[in-house]
This record gives sequence, structure tokens and C-alpha cells, in this order.
Amino acid sequence: MYKACGFVSGEPPSVGSEQLARAVIVDKKWPRKLACCIHKRSYAGKSHHAHQTDNSTMIIFKETNRLILREIIPKDEVGFYELDSDAEVHKYIESKTIDTIEQARETIRFIRQQYIDNGIGRWAIIEKETNNFIGWTGLKLIRKETNNHINYYDLGYRLLKKYWGNGFATEAAIASLDYGFDKLALQEIYADANIENVGSNNVLKKVGLRFVETFEKEGIIHHWYQIKRDDWIKMPNR
Ligand SMILES: CC(C)(COP(=O)(O)OP(=O)(O)OC[C@H]1O[C@@H](n2cnc3c(N)ncnc32)[C@H](O)[C@@H]1OP(=O)(O)O)[C@@H](O)C(=O)NCCC(=O)NCCS
Repeated sequence: MYKACGFVSGEPPSVGSEQLARAVIVDKKWPRKLACCIHKRSYAGKSHHAHQTDNSTMIIFKETNRLILREIIPKDEVGFYELDSDAEVHKYIESKTIDTIEQARETIRFIRQQYIDNGIGRWAIIEKETNNFIGWTGLKLIRKETNNHINYYDLGYRLLKKYWGNGFATEAAIASLDYGFDKLALQEIYADANIENVGSNNVLKKVGLRFVETFEKEGIIHHWYQIKRDDWIKMPNR
């Protein structure tokens, strides 16, 4: 049974069991104010850790030099609202901006349901130094046919504008790829970006994705990218 400090007995785990089992948890480097307790528990036959903040537990998947990548939790609603109500953030992405905090909550519920249904979903990016929510990154199982592909893993990211230009997206994307190839043992990961989205195309190329072709997505020309496991393994600075 999943259990962590302060966890309500009988409450189901917040993410898919396989994902829990694969979670990578930091301890010493975790900001002090969050590190109220760390428990190690067995779930689905494997051990994992959970952190608790206030009354909730969180699964942390990756740590980088400057970032913590953890499951998205309901408390991220303010960050999601700021992110998804910003027209500039949405300039090159299909989804429309939102107007209410309830829409941000709905997005969070949607992502958390993916953790359960697919064992994977986007993660929150937290700056270690400040404990601030920066945005999201991670892998998503795409079930809708896109450029003749279906049921594939997509790398994505979306950062609050004030955090652009620091290399955070690149750092988070590398960690996401590492998780996909190392922990999920994927054979390939894909991504796409509006051809005019210079920042995103830049990140994808920097982290090792290979431009394959252009295609049309909802009437807009996009670049389609792929990275194979074998190529990832050979990369020197991964
Ligand atoms: C796409 C997006 C995530 C890119 O963010 P970003 O901050 O420009 O991405 P990066 O992490 O590559 O950082 C950019 C720059 O930070 C600079 N930088 C500053 N400090 C750095 C550091 N310590 N390490 C690395 N780069 C650093 C680099 O110069 C880098 O640019 P360069 O590679 O051209 O030199 C951001 O524009 C965004 O969220 N857009 C809205 C959502 C979106 O479009 N998502 C993608 C949909 S396909």
C-alpha cells in the first residue's frame, strides 16, 4: 500500500504504479522548506520515495543542476493559470489561452489522469534555488494520430515568460529524454514545433533531436523531430 508521511490511509497513489516505481527522488539537495520528510515505501513490488509538502505527497522524477522535475499537483494551479493565460506563451501552440483558474485546475486534472492511464505525463519544473514553479516539461503519450504517428512519446515544455533565456527548457528537456530512454526504455521519442517557434526549434536541436520533415498540424506548418535511443546513448553530454 502506498503510504507517505501524512498520507491519508486508503487514498490511491497519485500517479501510475509503474511510474511510482521508477520515480527518482532527491534528498539532501531538496530545498529545506520542502524536505519535511522522506519515506521509502514498497509499491507494485518496488521501492520508491515520496516527499511531502504541507499535507500532500509528491513524486519527484528527476533532479538537474538547477531544477527539480516532479509530478504536477493541484497546488500548481496559480502557475498554470499564469502560464496558460499568457498570449505570448501560446503564440505558437495550438491550445487557446485560458481565462479562469478553473480552466487551470481542469488542465491539472487532465494531466494527472494521464499519470494513471498512461504511467507518464508532463511534469512540473521547479527552480531549486527559489522553489518557484517555472513551467512544465516531460513526455506525453500521444494517442491522437499526428504526422502519421500514433501512440508515441512526445517531448514538450512550456515555461513562464519570465524564465525564458536561462537555459531551463534545455536542462529540463535533457532530463526528460534521459528518463524516457533510461527509465522507460523507450526506443524513440518525437517532438514537433511550429516552424516559426524559434525558441522551441532551438531547444529540440540543442538536446539532440533530429529534424525529419515538415508537416501540417491544424493548418500550420510544423517541424517534426525524432531521437532514437541508440543516438541518445552515443551523445557525449547527455
Ligand atoms: C520554447 C521555450 C520553452 C524556450 O525557452 P528558452 O528559455 O528560450 O530555452 P532555453 O532553455 O534553450 O534557453 C534559451 C537561452 O538561454 C541562454 N542561457 C542562459 N543561461 C543559460 C545556461 N545556464 N545554460 C544554457 N543556456 C543558458 C542560452 O543562451 C539559450 O539560448 P541559445 O541556446 O540560443 O544560446 C519558451 O520559449 C516557451 O516556453 N515558449 C512558450 C511555449 C512553447 O512554445 N512551447 C513549445 C511548443 S513546441
